[in-house]
Amino acid sequence: MSLLLCFYKNFPIPFLFFGFPLLLILLSNVSANGVKEKNFYIVFLGDHAVSRDTTLDSHLNILSAVKGSHLEANESLVYSYTTSFNAFAAKLSEDEANKLSAMDEVVSVLPNRYRKLHTTRSWDFIGLPFTAKRKLKSESDIIVALLDTGVTPEFQSFNDDGFGPPPAKWKGTCHQYANFSGCNNKLIGAKYFKADGRIDPSDILSPIDMVGHGTHTASTAAGNLVPDASLFGIAKGTARGAVPAARLAIYKVCWASHACSDMDILAAFEAAIHDGVDVISVSIGGGDPNYVHDSIGIGAFHAMRKGIVTVASAGNDGPFMATVTNTAPWIVTVAASGIDRDFRSTIELGSGKNFTGVGLSTFNPKQKQYPLVDGIDAARSSGSKENAKFCYEDSLAPTKVKGKLVHCRLSTWGSEAVVQAIGGIGTIMESDQVFEIAQIFTAPATIVNSSIGQIITNYTQSTRSPSAVIHKSHEVKITAPFAASFSSRGPNPVSKHILKPDVTAPGLNILASYTPRKPITDQKGDTQFSEFTLMSGTSMSCPHVSGVAAYVKSFHPDWTPAAIRSSIITTAKPMSPRVNKEAEFVYGAGQVNPTRALHPGLVYDMDDFAYIQFLCHEGFNGSTLSALVGSPVNCTSLLPGLGHDAINYPTMQLSVENNTSITVGVFRRRVTNVGPGPTIFNATIKAPKGVEITVKPTSLIFSHTQQKKSFKVVVKAKSIASMQIVSGSLIWRSPRYIVRSPIVIYSP
Ligand SMILES: *[C@@H]1O[C@H](CO)[C@@H](O)[C@H](O)[C@H]1NC(C)=O
Ligand SMILES: *[C@@H]1O[C@H](CO)[C@@H](O)[C@H](O)[C@H]1NC(C)=O
Ligand SMILES: *[C@@H]1O[C@H](CO)[C@@H](O)[C@H](O)[C@H]1NC(C)=O
Ligand SMILES: *[C@@H]1O[C@H](CO)[C@@H](O)[C@H](O)[C@H]1NC(C)=O
Ligand SMILES: *[C@@H]1O[C@H](CO)[C@@H](O)[C@H](O)[C@H]1NC(C)=O
Ligand SMILES: *[C@@H]1O[C@H](CO)[C@@H](O)[C@H](O)[C@H]1NC(C)=O
Ligand SMILES: *[C@@H]1O[C@H](CO)[C@@H](O)[C@H](O)[C@H]1NC(C)=O
Ligand SMILES: *[C@@H]1O[C@H](CO)[C@@H](O)[C@H](O)[C@H]1NC(C)=O
Ligand SMILES: *[C@@H]1O[C@H](CO)[C@@H](O)[C@H](O)[C@H]1NC(C)=O
Ligand SMILES: *[C@@H]1O[C@H](CO)[C@@H](O)[C@H](O)[C@H]1NC(C)=O
Repeated sequence: MSLLLCFYKNFPIPFLFFGFPLLLILLSNVSANGVKEKNFYIVFLGDHAVSRDTTLDSHLNILSAVKGSHLEANESLVYSYTTSFNAFAAKLSEDEANKLSAMDEVVSVLPNRYRKLHTTRSWDFIGLPFTAKRKLKSESDIIVALLDTGVTPEFQSFNDDGFGPPPAKWKGTCHQYANFSGCNNKLIGAKYFKADGRIDPSDILSPIDMVGHGTHTASTAAGNLVPDASLFGIAKGTARGAVPAARLAIYKVCWASHACSDMDILAAFEAAIHDGVDVISVSIGGGDPNYVHDSIGIGAFHAMRKGIVTVASAGNDGPFMATVTNTAPWIVTVAASGIDRDFRSTIELGSGKNFTGVGLSTFNPKQKQYPLVDGIDAARSSGSKENAKFCYEDSLAPTKVKGKLVHCRLSTWGSEAVVQAIGGIGTIMESDQVFEIAQIFTAPATIVNSSIGQIITNYTQSTRSPSAVIHKSHEVKITAPFAASFSSRGPNPVSKHILKPDVTAPGLNILASYTPRKPITDQKGDTQFSEFTLMSGTSMSCPHVSGVAAYVKSFHPDWTPAAIRSSIITTAKPMSPRVNKEAEFVYGAGQVNPTRALHPGLVYDMDDFAYIQFLCHEGFNGSTLSALVGSPVNCTSLLPGLGHDAINYPTMQLSVENNTSITVGVFRRRVTNVGPGPTIFNATIKAPKGVEITVKPTSLIFSHTQQKKSFKVVVKAKSIASMQIVSGSLIWRSPRYIVRSPIVIYSP
């Protein structure tokens, strides 16, 4: 599994995210010399109505049957999952794995996989100002769990000034580990999970965050208020999470090599469920798209059964279609969008002309002007001119760049470091790509487009002593929200019935806490360290929604995960399909709206039984589902289920074959009045061209709160072009509330 942090790797492929070929090697079970190796597998067993000790014993017994001895079984066992689900993880040969899957008591055997990795101004932007109404007492009883790279306990975001002891429901523990002196009343839990025994040379076996990712997501979800947070003065503001009074529990499952393994993720879910957390935030992706076989899907299912909301990242594989991950209907799936802030640098030429570049330069110039040279003119030799144009390593003559700014065409990141390493000041980079993510430079640098580049070239060529200066980056206001191009798109590759992602939240250039143990960029030679930094990815948008889920739960502690998800979806701020052409496939119901989510009016509620019925309707058979559920499932008794999709989801999606004249979908839904009663909600339908949508009844009359009412939505759609999406909606409106459900019609 992989983190869903997002950055530009080298060209020419834009928007390439953590992709680690190394991990593929781990997957292979045949070593270089062809000898079969043992790998980790997760073995799911049925019924778990047994005590903890007996279960561990029964795991060893089952394992001994294939290993030959108890001793060998004990040596190969790495996890015995006994509280939420009945399963174990062990090192097995392929033969042993096959033997186990043939055993009666074994439901399924899944290989453990390591997959590819993937200011708080954002809170004000989405309408959760610091002055927003809060229930402090209840908020301090909320525990937000993060499955991530760990945490930086010494940072201000996690100190416990003013916090009382952990809420009584907390059953977790926290110990001292290497470089980790223990928890406090804010950071109430911290554990790490790494069962493969492989040493990660750039990490330590401790909940300490060596990557920065986990600290960033934890502080975004529930970090304390930290005034005057910034990246060297840029993006200055008060840093805070959605619920600064809530507690944090950290489960480190991802390591500096960026690998997060299934068996560790499952163990972390089991621990978080046992510990009594309220929300689980998972900025990890790259799992098995089939959620019935995916550690996050399985873990989140069991969390849901215990009333815990799981929020996960949609993935960073946009702008490609059908790339959305973590699509189980019991997960809140979060896309990423931009806020109204971007960063620019002013370049001042010796001629007095100013230009604007993009990217983040944190450096204040020490001189008014620096001599400027074109990379081509600073080539080491006539043969290195072509490379010098791009300021590649070893292409420039140190004597020709010393003390100068160098004008380079952008091909790979790091030319500012190349120039600085041989005595230069920094670089003006030229590129016509669009850069949404603010690249952080390790020396003064900025990116201009080719028309500005041409003016600079002309200036350099026509002036005896050309000079320039790059000013430190500053903030500019831009139009927002807009979908981030890297954010993974629908349609949902697993189910044509469920719209995913559910919602979008800020995930572009987000300022939050980092780690003191690593410079802020991965560039060689970077010496910039900062308590706060900017990061981008659905990894960053996910904890925004986790925080909102915690915020909603602090007002409604008894709501189910489905009710909380419904309130987040139906109150989201609609976005424009004209600006974001993939429409709901990129932003779901729209941008999360924290204060409105507190008062949704109606919710589409569900229990775990309803999800099982949906899965049967989707065509999963009972034996496949019993691995997920942990007990036998008889789909025959649960079918057919209600309506087109057999689920009470707050959004509706109809896939249309392009060769049929009319496709009809009948959706049956049931809403609970969570506002005061008596009250009347009237329906408003928006149907796109070529689609007819009707709702029956058109009014829902509630006499009291908590009352439930059913209705039917019929969608009739003409065929549409392949991979096209058209958007409609159903809005239930009362004098106090607007409850909006997107209705999506698409052709696969
Ligand atoms: C099983 O292994 C653990 C360590 O992995 C050890 O502490 C324990 O004593 C072993 N038990 C048996 C029965 O061998
Ligand atoms: C861990 O602590 C040791 C001893 O204080 C120190 O030398 C080392 O740098 C620390 N490592 C990290 C990653 O902080
Ligand atoms: C160019 O930018 C600098 C720094 O922002 C500013 O001081 C100067 O007045 C600007 N010059 C022009 C011609 O706009
Ligand atoms: C380059 O940027 C300038 C100013 O930002 C803009 O006016 C111009 O159209 C851009 N040129 C290209 C090729 O994008
Ligand atoms: C740059 O110089 C060339 C050749 O002198 C000229 O054709 C071109 O218009 C100039 N471009 C700009 C942007 O000044
Ligand atoms: C259930 O589905 C799985 C996967 O599609 C298949 O391997 C298995 O044979 C099926 N079992 C039954 C009882 O149909
Ligand atoms: C499953 O349910 C159906 C219908 O209720 C019933 O006829 C069948 O015997 C059940 N199968 C099992 C294996 O219990
Ligand atoms: C339409 O095309 C799909 C897939 O190509 C096919 O399965 C289906 O039978 C076709 N329907 C009709 C009415 O031709
Ligand atoms: C319908 O689908 C077929 C096969 O996917 C495709 O070749 C054809 O162009 C589609 N027709 C329309 C109108 O989109
Ligand atoms: C809902 O519809 C009823 C009957 O058409 C109407 O009397 C009432 O004013 C409507 N309420 C709202 C809030 O639009």
